[in-house]
Amino acid sequence: MKILVATQKPFAPAAVDGIREVVKAAGHELVLVEKGTKDDMIKAVADCAGLIVRSDKVDKEVLDAAKELKVVVRAGAGYDNIDLAEATAHGVCVMNTPGQNSNAVAELVFGMLVYLLRNRFDGTSGSELKDKTLGIHAFGQVGRNVARIAKGFGMKVSAFDPFVKDEAMLAEGVTPIHSIEELYKENQFVSLHIPATKDTIKSVNKALIDLMPKNAVLVNAARKEVIDEDSLREALETRTDFKYVADVKPDIAAELQEKYGNRVLFTPKKMGAQTAEANIKAGIAAAEQVVANLKDGWNKFQVNK
Ligand code: 3PG
Repeated sequence: MKILVATQKPFAPAAVDGIREVVKAAGHELVLVEKGTKDDMIKAVADCAGLIVRSDKVDKEVLDAAKELKVVVRAGAGYDNIDLAEATAHGVCVMNTPGQNSNAVAELVFGMLVYLLRNRFDGTSGSELKDKTLGIHAFGQVGRNVARIAKGFGMKVSAFDPFVKDEAMLAEGVTPIHSIEELYKENQFVSLHIPATKDTIKSVNKALIDLMPKNAVLVNAARKEVIDEDSLREALETRTDFKYVADVKPDIAAELQEKYGNRVLFTPKKMGAQTAEANIKAGIAAAEQVVANLKDGWNKFQVNK
């Protein structure tokens, strides 16, 4: 059977080699479409039984064209790029690869923070992370890695996640917080790790940002959609102490950079998971999951029903 890897943002070459090995060892054929258009994906997927993507859109058009398709694996965590209802309607199993790229995302959070707090290494005096308060908004795989690294910096770490028990946070030296308002109120730094869903899109708004203490820094290595950009503009305008750091840039990035240059920092492309290690882990896990699904319907990480 054919398995298509279609990625706008290509995997590291070592990850592609690893994926190819897994696919070949299972007796399948790898089709690779890197930096292609949607049309390229649509053409290539027509006779494929498996599909591996990253943030690449898998919508009705792609699924309609994929007559042989049985399984899509998103090599990564967030699957907001995949139309789950359409996949279900087409009888296609969708899985993600939880945890495989989370350390890479967490490390980038601190890379961006240090760069911002040291004034982009421009020679002027900056500030430190030690002893500062960090609130983690959603304590999933990335949130946990952020907590581990933050403790190394000597930060005071707390987290809000209604789906995680207090004991799980306490076991990792993280103070549980039970309301979203309290999370923003108590922490100078807040790091977002919520998925983009209909409930979370635009949910981080001015009301929350306004609760943050002096010299607040909001970090978004999750999805740009979870921030309400009008609120973000207003917060930057009205609070001259507020800073915003994001992987990846908001739609209004150019305007924000022009007006508040030194208080905002954005990656031009989503960079969180773009390391050789994360690519290899997520890519190979994706290949193994596709192969296992094609073999006997294995679906441990299925996200559609
Ligand atoms: C994820 O959801 O796993 C991350 O956002 C990484 O996305 P990417 O594979 O497009 O870099």
